[in-house]
Amino acid sequence: MTYFLGIDSSTTGVKALVIDAKGEVIGAATTEIPLSTPKPLWSEQDPADWWQGTVSSIRRVLQETKLSGTDIAAVGLTGQMHGLTLLDETGTVLRPAILWNDQRTGAECDDIRARLGRARLIQITGNDALTGFTAPKILWVQKNEPEVYARVRHILLPKDYVRYKLTGDFAVDKADGAGMLLFDLAKRDWSPEVLQTLEIPAEWLPKTYEGPDVTGQISAEAAEVTGLKAGTPVVGGGGDQAAQAVGVGVVQSGIIALTLGTSGVVFASTNEPFIEPEGRLHAFCHSVPGRWHLMGVMLSAAGSLRWYRDTLAPGVDFDRLLAPANDVPPGSEGLLFLPYLTGERTPHPDPLARGAFVGLTVRHTQAHLSRAVLEGVAFGLRDSFELMKSAGLAEIKQVRVSGGGAKSQLWRQILADTLNAELVTVNTTEGAAYGAALLAGVGVGAWPDVDAACQAAIKVTGSTGSQADQATKYEQVYAEYRQLYPALKAISHNLSHI
Ligand code: XUL
Repeated sequence: MTYFLGIDSSTTGVKALVIDAKGEVIGAATTEIPLSTPKPLWSEQDPADWWQGTVSSIRRVLQETKLSGTDIAAVGLTGQMHGLTLLDETGTVLRPAILWNDQRTGAECDDIRARLGRARLIQITGNDALTGFTAPKILWVQKNEPEVYARVRHILLPKDYVRYKLTGDFAVDKADGAGMLLFDLAKRDWSPEVLQTLEIPAEWLPKTYEGPDVTGQISAEAAEVTGLKAGTPVVGGGGDQAAQAVGVGVVQSGIIALTLGTSGVVFASTNEPFIEPEGRLHAFCHSVPGRWHLMGVMLSAAGSLRWYRDTLAPGVDFDRLLAPANDVPPGSEGLLFLPYLTGERTPHPDPLARGAFVGLTVRHTQAHLSRAVLEGVAFGLRDSFELMKSAGLAEIKQVRVSGGGAKSQLWRQILADTLNAELVTVNTTEGAAYGAALLAGVGVGAWPDVDAACQAAIKVTGSTGSQADQATKYEQVYAEYRQLYPALKAISHNLSHI
C-alpha cells in the first residue's frame, strides 16, 4: 500500500496527516507552536519552532499509524501564507518571521502604492498592498533593520522554510508565491518590474513550481531526524487557502469554497486570472496548474460568534445558545450586527473598522442577538460574493462549506438564503493538510491530475438549498447592512484614538 504525507505549518501548530492511495485519512498528529507579539501590531514566530513541530508531528504520525518512512511515497507542504522568513548565505535565520496577521507595515504599503502606482500594482499582481502581504514586510526590514537587511540572501515563506529544512532546496509553489505581492499574476512567476521598482534582488527569491510538481527530495539529514526515507519526493503544495480548496474539491470554476473558521474565507477557482478592479479581493494562483483563484477574507466569522458567546453567554454551548434563534424571523426583527471585531480585510481593508449591534429595541431578546450575529457574518461573506461577480465571475454553481461554523444547520440555512445558492458539505474535514497530501499523490502519479484526485477522494455529504421567501427578505436587509460601514467609519476611527 502507498501513502502520502501532508504537512500544514499553520499559525497555531504543525499538522502531519497521512492518507492512503484512495484518499482515506490514516492518521494525523499536531504539535502546537507559540506566537509572539513583542509590540502592538506585531505578530512573529521563530522558524525553529516550525521545524521542531514538523519533526515531532512526522515522528508521531508515523508511530501512531505504525508506518515506516519507506511507506510514504511523497510529501506535500502547506502552511500559513505571506509570512516573511529571512536567511543569510549559510541558510541561518536572521530574525523572527513576520506573520500574515502582523499589522506594522501601513507606511510600507503606502510606499509600494506610491512607487509602482496603485493601478499598475493591481494590474500586475492582482492585488492592492495590504499589511498582511510579504512585500511590505521586506521593505519594513530594509528601513528599520538595515543591519539585518544587509545580510539577507534568501527570502522564504513559512512552509518553504520547512521545505528547505526537509530537502535543502529553495522553492515555492505558485499559489503561495502569488501572495507575496511580487508576482506577475498572469505569468505565474516573479514580476521583474515589481522587483526592480521595490529594489528587491531577484536572486533572493526561490524558484517557483506548480502545486503537484516535485521540488526536491528528503535529504539524508532530514531523513535521520524525521524518520522519512531519504530521496522521498516533496511537491510544491500550496498556501493554506489554496490547499484547503483542493482538500474540499474546489478546483473548477463555478464552485466556491466557504470556510467558516475564526476567519471566513470565500474562495473561487478560476480558469483565468480574474482581478477585482479595486483590488478588494485577493487574486492569486491556484495550486492546480494553470488555474487561479479569487478570495475574500473576513477576519471575524466564527470568531464573532465565539466572542458573542464568551462575552454575553459564557459557558453556554453553541447548540443551546443558537436553538432559540431558529424561532426568530429572518432579519432579526430589525436588528443588525456588523462583524468587524478585529478590523476587516474584505470588502473594507481597514484595521480600525469596528463591530456594532444596530437597531436594538426592548423587543429584542438574546435569541435576536444570536441570530443577528449569524446574519451579520453571512452578509459580510455575501460582500465577497458580490465583489466576485463584479470581477467577472459569472456563474456560481455550488458553495462547499467547511470549518467549525458549518456544523450549525441554522447558520448553513441563513448562508444559503443570504447568498441565494446551494450550500453543500463534503466528506473531507482535514483541510489544508489533506489538500497537500492529495497534491503529493498527484505529484508521483497516484492520480493523473488534481481534478481526478478530488473526484476520486471527495464526495458531497449534505446539501442546504435557499428558500425563496427568506432570500427575498435577506435581499432587503442586506441593502441596509451595506450602509453600516460607511455610516460608522468615521466614528470607529475616532473611537480607536480615544
Ligand atoms: C490568507 C491568509 C491566511 C493565512 C493564515 O490570505 O492570510 O489564510 O494564510 O492561515
